[in-house]
Parts: sequence; structure tokens; C-alpha cells
Amino acid sequence: MLAFSPAHLLTHLSPLPTPAPIKLATTTTTTSAAAMAAAASPNALLLKTPSATAAAAASPRTAFPVTTRLPAAALKPISIKCAAATTHVQDPRAPPPPPPAAAQERVFNFAAGPAVLPEKVLLRAQSELYVWRESGMSVMEMSHRGKDFTSIIQKAEADLRTLLEIPPEYAVLFLQGGATTQFAAIPLNLCQPDDAVDFIVTGSWGDKAFKEAQKYSKAKVVWSGKAEKYTKIPSFDDVEQNPDAKFLHICANETIHGVEFKNYPVPKNKGGILVADMSSNFCSKPVDVSKFGVIYAGAQKNVGPSGVTIVIIRKDLIGNAQGITPVMLDYKIQAENASLYNTPPCYGIYMCGLVFEDLLEQGGLKEVEKKNIKKAELLYRTIDESKGFYRCPVEASVRSLMNVPFTLEKSELEAEFIKEAAKEKMVQLKGHRSVGGMRASIYNAMPLAGVEKLVAFMRDFQARHA
Ligand SMILES: Cc1ncc(COP(=O)(O)O)c(C=O)c1O
Repeated sequence: MLAFSPAHLLTHLSPLPTPAPIKLATTTTTTSAAAMAAAASPNALLLKTPSATAAAAASPRTAFPVTTRLPAAALKPISIKCAAATTHVQDPRAPPPPPPAAAQERVFNFAAGPAVLPEKVLLRAQSELYVWRESGMSVMEMSHRGKDFTSIIQKAEADLRTLLEIPPEYAVLFLQGGATTQFAAIPLNLCQPDDAVDFIVTGSWGDKAFKEAQKYSKAKVVWSGKAEKYTKIPSFDDVEQNPDAKFLHICANETIHGVEFKNYPVPKNKGGILVADMSSNFCSKPVDVSKFGVIYAGAQKNVGPSGVTIVIIRKDLIGNAQGITPVMLDYKIQAENASLYNTPPCYGIYMCGLVFEDLLEQGGLKEVEKKNIKKAELLYRTIDESKGFYRCPVEASVRSLMNVPFTLEKSELEAEFIKEAAKEKMVQLKGHRSVGGMRASIYNAMPLAGVEKLVAFMRDFQARHA
């Protein structure tokens, strides 16, 4: 099995433009996206804080060997025959290849989803894109019923089970249609049209789920945070649940409003069925799966590209779908066919698998949560210590670790803030169109260096505009 070298990477990626020379101020042997961005920034002095630089260098996501510029001859394409026959077999445990020179062009992406993916995962996918291991083809070209893809989906499921310690009495499904499709699939599978179901609505996504469930059940909102602009989670004692409801639904993290459940209500319904939309905090921290009947999540925030929706469901809840349930939404059919009833989103599932592997390599979800807490604390502290220049409307105890909404006291400066941040390679900071202001989504794959750069920029912006 051949080792992967920068030259190897570049010969297989011959369409890459000739890389620009990397400008580095020091002679150290490692660099990072953050250090490079800081060197080029007008806020360079402010941004080059020792802690930021040290953290960036220590970050496994951003520290890479320096990619040296190769002579033009090294970029010559090699023949397909040679490449496929001898050089594309990757050792899955090999360290990821170094980033191409284009890494300099990567920004800190604070988007709410699709969102930043781990650099390591992107580079692994890049190295395996053309030919996956010994298959002789790309994952995108494989039969979803062949042994190679079977091994990919089975490993993805096994790794997710390890990460979340999913008990054996739960099925894991890799589906399509986004979390929005689950808004219909959940009531279609868990109740009949006349059954009562309860919704705690702490933001726009919970509200959307409720509205869709009304089509297939007697859905009722048992608590809503709308009057307080979705800035709170209720005290569970204040929620009057219907004991006859078929399930209680929550959105564990409201992506738009930045409100996150820190613990979960105990359902009073028969069977104790709690259903949670975890799209925007899935795999961001450990979760006791046994407290839930169903957990569902679109992948495109924390665990992969859009196109994959993960459903974790207690097996005894499968098999009661309403007669009108489309075949694709019937959990029984999907479970019996191991998510392969029709052609699944193969490449997306493969990418999720790479992310799960990466999360395990980081030490699992306890370690991931520690990193997420550190990033979120830094950002919220900066907001809270700004003497009102920045404000986060969400009640402190339920602030999201993943999505941090904030406004400027001088709201007329918000457009300028977003524009200047983008010039500094920090993008997608605009708040959702329904709430305005700013929102920094700091999912698992956002490195600490990205948040450090953002808070340095925020302090600098405040100093210039206070
Ligand atoms: C919490 C939450 N639920 C549901 C959705 C809808 O997901 P999808 O676009 O995958 O249907 C989103 C999308 O941003 C979300 O953040």
C-alpha cells in the first residue's frame, strides 16, 4: 500500500491551477488556515494573539504540514491506467493528505447549514473521490447493493451507534427528504389521524413540525415561546401534557433562534414517547438515546452534506404507519430494507461515515462537547462583556452551543459588520431572514481558531464603532 504524498495528491488532481506561493512570516514547519488568514488581515495585530495562534497550531483540524510549491513537471497528469492500477488504494487509517494550496482560500464558514465540514474529512474524501480503496471506482459510481457500499453504510451505522451509544433496541435509518420530510413521517408512522399528539414549540422549526403534523393527527401546542420571541425553554412543570397523546415532540436545538434544551421533558403519554428534531445539535454532545422514541436529524449541520436524514427509532414503534403513508416514509419498509429500499444518498452516507470516524478519533462526543462549550463560552462572553454593544436575546441558561444569534445595539451597523467580517474571510454571519441581526453557527467542525478570530474581529469592530 503506497503512502500519500503532496506530489501524489497533485498528480491526481491535475485540473488544479498552479498553486500560489504561500506567504508565511515564520519558518515553522506547520501552518493553519487561521494563521494564514491572520497574516493577510488588516486586523492582523489584533488577531495575532498568542492564544489564537497557539490554539490554531494545536488544532488537529487546522494544523498541517506546509505544502511546498511543486515544479510544473510534477503537476503533469498521469495515465488513468497507471493511477487506477497502482496508486489509488488508500489505507483508511493513514493520516489525511496535506491540503492543496487552495486551502489558503478557505474561509471560516459560520453558515447554519449546509455548514462547515471537518477539513480532515474533506481531504480524505478528496483523496478517495476518484477511486475508493480497491473498488476501482468512485463511491458515487458504486451499486448501493454491492459489497463496497454495504461496508460503507454498515460502518457508518456502527460508528454512529458507538458515538451515541445507541441501544440495540433502536433502529438507525439513513433516509432522504431532509428533516422537513420527517415532520410528516413522524405522525404518519406513530399515530392515526384522530390521535392526539403534543408539541412544545420553542422556535420556527418546532412550529413547522407542528403545522405539518396537524395534517395527519390531532396535533396540539402544549407550550409555545412565540410571545417571547422564542428566547426560552419552559419549565417542564408548566407544560400541561395530554396523557392520551401518542407522543411529545420537541426541537432539541432551534437553529434560527439559538435556543437549546439542556435536559429533556419526561413524556406523560402511555409508552413515554419523546420525539426530538436534533438536526442542528446532532452529535454535538452525548445524548441518552433511551429517553427518546425517535430522534431525527438532517445531516447538513454537524455530520455531513445535505441529502441524508438520520432517524433513530425505538424498534417497537415501527410497523404502525397510517394506510396513506408513502412507501418512502414508512419506517417499517425502510428498516426491513436496511435503508436500501430504493437508491439511497450513497455519497452523502459515505461522507457522514467519514465524519463519524473523525468524531470517534477526537475521543467521542464527550470530548467534542468540551470543545463546543469552549467555543460557545468564548463567543457568549464576548457578547455579554460588550456593555450592550452586542446582545444575545436568548435566556442565558438555554443558549445554544451551536447557533449564536446576536444583534448590534446600533442596528444600522449590522450590514457593515457582516461586510467587514466577510472581507476578513468570516462568512455567512447574517441572521435568518425572519429574525435579522447576526448568527454565528459554530458546529463541531468550526475550529476554535475560527471563533477566536471572530471575537477578535468583534472587539475590534466595537472599538472602532462604540
Ligand atoms: C432544527 C431544524 N429542523 C429542521 C430543519 C429542516 O431541515 P431540512 O432542510 O433538512 O428539511 C432545519 C434546517 O435548517 C433545522 O435547523
